[in-house]
Amino acid sequence: MPTIPPVTLNNGVEIPQIGLGVFLVPDAETKQAVSSALDVGYRHIDTAMIYENERAVGAAIAESDIPRDALFVTTKCWNSDQGYDEALAAFEASRDLLGLDYVDLYLIHWPVAAKDRYVDTWKAFEQLYADGRVRAIGVSNFQPPHLQRLLDETETVPAINQVELHPWLQQREVRAFDAQHGIVTEAWSPISRGEKLADPTLQQVAAKHSVTPAQVILRWHLDLGNVIIPKSVDKDRMAANLDLFTIRLDEDDHAKIGALDEGSRVGPDPDDMDG
Ligand SMILES: NC(=O)c1ccc[n+]([C@@H]2O[C@H](COP(=O)([O-])OP(=O)(O)OC[C@H]3O[C@@H](n4cnc5c(N)ncnc54)[C@H](OP(=O)(O)O)[C@@H]3O)[C@@H](O)[C@H]2O)c1
Repeated sequence: MPTIPPVTLNNGVEIPQIGLGVFLVPDAETKQAVSSALDVGYRHIDTAMIYENERAVGAAIAESDIPRDALFVTTKCWNSDQGYDEALAAFEASRDLLGLDYVDLYLIHWPVAAKDRYVDTWKAFEQLYADGRVRAIGVSNFQPPHLQRLLDETETVPAINQVELHPWLQQREVRAFDAQHGIVTEAWSPISRGEKLADPTLQQVAAKHSVTPAQVILRWHLDLGNVIIPKSVDKDRMAANLDLFTIRLDEDDHAKIGALDEGSRVGPDPDDMDG
């Protein structure tokens, strides 16, 4: 079983660089998927209130004999739960569903700037952190102006910014801002939902290293220092997505993948998400 190297967050907490995402995994299949993932070596699971599968994630964890402190669980505060009191209540609901004493990482799912509640939401997150109910707090889908506002108006720099990020949306500006402020960048849809695995450039790099296009993309992320949370319900693909540690991409591979950036998204643009 591979050992997943950790990335150290700005408060000293370590997050395994690879986790399993469970977006769009139906509740009824999630327990099996998470159990399979734990079986093949995953120790980090990424869920959210809006995925409606937190209870099943918790059930798989409860059934496993892996010590709690060897696991890393992320969940997220949904847009309709933004606001100080609402976020505290939403956190307790998630914690209950997960059946955990504490959550490792709690994220604001989207800034929803039109509602203008993310600063108050973040203050609730600071309280959760101060209480020890979460080990780290972060954000998702935040653009530099949203991050800058948190830096200006609150006491805590987010530990993580989880954004859509893959070779076709390389997020150079967001990554540079994150890095400048000690915020770890985490990639969602890290393989672009598998939609472009037939890309000829990727196929060529994959053939050169005798690996799959998905593995090329995931290795590229690790080289950039991104935390990644590929989703799969298939145990073989889960294992393949962890089997990245003997792949060595060279400068030429990086130049080729770097040139795939076209700014195209598979999910919503954070500036259009208003509810
Ligand atoms: N913060 C946010 O707003 C946000 C938004 C979206 C997603 N996320 C998080 O990010 C996670 C990952 O993103 P995602 O689920 O959208 O997309 P993804 O991980 O880029 O791609 C998942 C898709 O690729 C397939 N796949 C997985 N491994 C593969 C492989 N080795 N070869 C070929 N196909 C493979 C999966 O199918 P199978 O399952 O059949 O293998 C699934 O259809 C989510 O699950 C969620 O936890 C966060």
